[in-house]
Amino acid sequence: MEGKAGKEPGKCPNSQQYNGKVESRISLSGTSGEVAALEKMVSPYQNDGDYKIAREKNGHDCQGNSVRCTVYRDGYRRSIRCILDFVAAASGDSERPVQRAITVNDGVRIASVETGRPLLFGLMSDGIYIPSACGGRGVCGQCRVCIKTKRLPHTEAERSLISESDREFGIHLSCQVRVSLDLSIEIPWKHFAASQYSTRVAGLRSLTSEIREVTLDVTGPRELSFVAGQYIQLFLPGTESTPEPLYRAYSIASSPSYPRRLVVMVRRESGGTVSPYICDHLREGQELVVRGPFGDFRMHDSLREALLIAGGSGLAPLWAMLQVMAEEVRAGKISRKTTLYFSARKKNDLFLVNELLAMEKILPFRFVPALSNPRPAEPWDGERGGISAVLDRRLDRLDNHEAYLCGSAGMIDACIRVLQAKGLSEEFIFFDKFL
Ligand SMILES: Cc1cc2nc3c(=O)[nH]c(=O)nc-3n(C[C@H](O)[C@H](O)[C@H](O)COP(=O)(O)OP(=O)(O)OC[C@H]3O[C@@H](n4cnc5c(N)ncnc54)[C@H](O)[C@@H]3O)c2cc1C
Ligand code: FES
Repeated sequence: MEGKAGKEPGKCPNSQQYNGKVESRISLSGTSGEVAALEKMVSPYQNDGDYKIAREKNGHDCQGNSVRCTVYRDGYRRSIRCILDFVAAASGDSERPVQRAITVNDGVRIASVETGRPLLFGLMSDGIYIPSACGGRGVCGQCRVCIKTKRLPHTEAERSLISESDREFGIHLSCQVRVSLDLSIEIPWKHFAASQYSTRVAGLRSLTSEIREVTLDVTGPRELSFVAGQYIQLFLPGTESTPEPLYRAYSIASSPSYPRRLVVMVRRESGGTVSPYICDHLREGQELVVRGPFGDFRMHDSLREALLIAGGSGLAPLWAMLQVMAEEVRAGKISRKTTLYFSARKKNDLFLVNELLAMEKILPFRFVPALSNPRPAEPWDGERGGISAVLDRRLDRLDNHEAYLCGSAGMIDACIRVLQAKGLSEEFIFFDKFL
């Protein structure tokens, strides 16, 4: 027997019209026997206003009937608890983990998560997608939630990624929280915008020997709207609904003007899990599940001169931003002065060079490629050395600039040190680290 809980869309729990009550729904499907037993169990409570229960025929479920139950605030914790306990008991399997109710944002959504499961994955199974870039390994620090029910201990990974004051406030990494109790949690409203999409691989292209461009057609359930700079999670086929799904974050490299066609640029990480699959095994026509959009990295509306700084596949979100700038100029908007510093090891590791040079004719834009490790025999009269050293050499005092950086954590940290030494304050530096 399976359960799924959720609030009716479009109804605000804080709204006066509810007189302090939250309407939540829990739909259960199961065999006729299970449903009859559930009805018997809840019938004593039907009259005290805690909840109503209505039986309906579920035409899609070959197992038989489904029960729809409307639960009101005063009683919802008890009602859902007893229904979920019933579900576990009805299975007749004492080994089966008990489901716990996770109340999200005061009852806007209620998820049910098996005990012992990481909160991040449990919420995911119920269609609540918390940003997560490292696949739940406690490295990226993006899967934060506020746990309001009670103080829970923090893991070592949480202590290293969450400040003491935030920990005091109940902030946790949802991938590190193993669910053992009913919980009430708070997440930013913007997280409800992320959804799951089906896509089909429409094109594959090698940008370098290590970086593959993947074009995905979004096939459903609708177009995927995003802002240039955001990322999606890309799932290894067949793992999206497994207990610990395998996915990684990839920045969208295409323009948001085409929400049905997404481009990502994936660098093969030797010894990695997802990127070697994408670079070596993905085929045209294959179906892929993605979720998103996620992330706050985006270009801010400003006339400050923009410094874009990319290392390798870190070009992806910056290329999306440049395409938006070009579209805006074509639509008559005045663009700000922009320079892209693009770092690669050797000449063959540079990509989109012609497209970037073409941007110099559309925008007030300079393209500065830099090679950190050029081959001795390779003719190259451009910049040489690590990108932070190149910035140090080329930039004067930064009084009226903004910087957008994307690439490895080491590269970004080194560049930020140079930018700050040149007078650029933290508030004008934006970055996305590929962890
Ligand atoms: C916001 C964001 C956006 C990103 N966008 C992009 C993008 O546009 N393009 C892109 O190419 N990448 C991007 N990344 C990086 C990407 O998400 C993956 O981290 C990258 O592709 C590696 O994933 P993987 O599964 O191949 O490697 P993983 O399996 O994650 O392994 C990574 C490395 O860790 C090592 N490793 C794995 N497990 C262990 C272990 N237990 N102990 C020790 N070492 C271990 C592996 O040998 C490997 O070297 C982005 C990351 C973030 C956070
Ligand atoms: S998913 Fe990365 S820290 Fe939790």
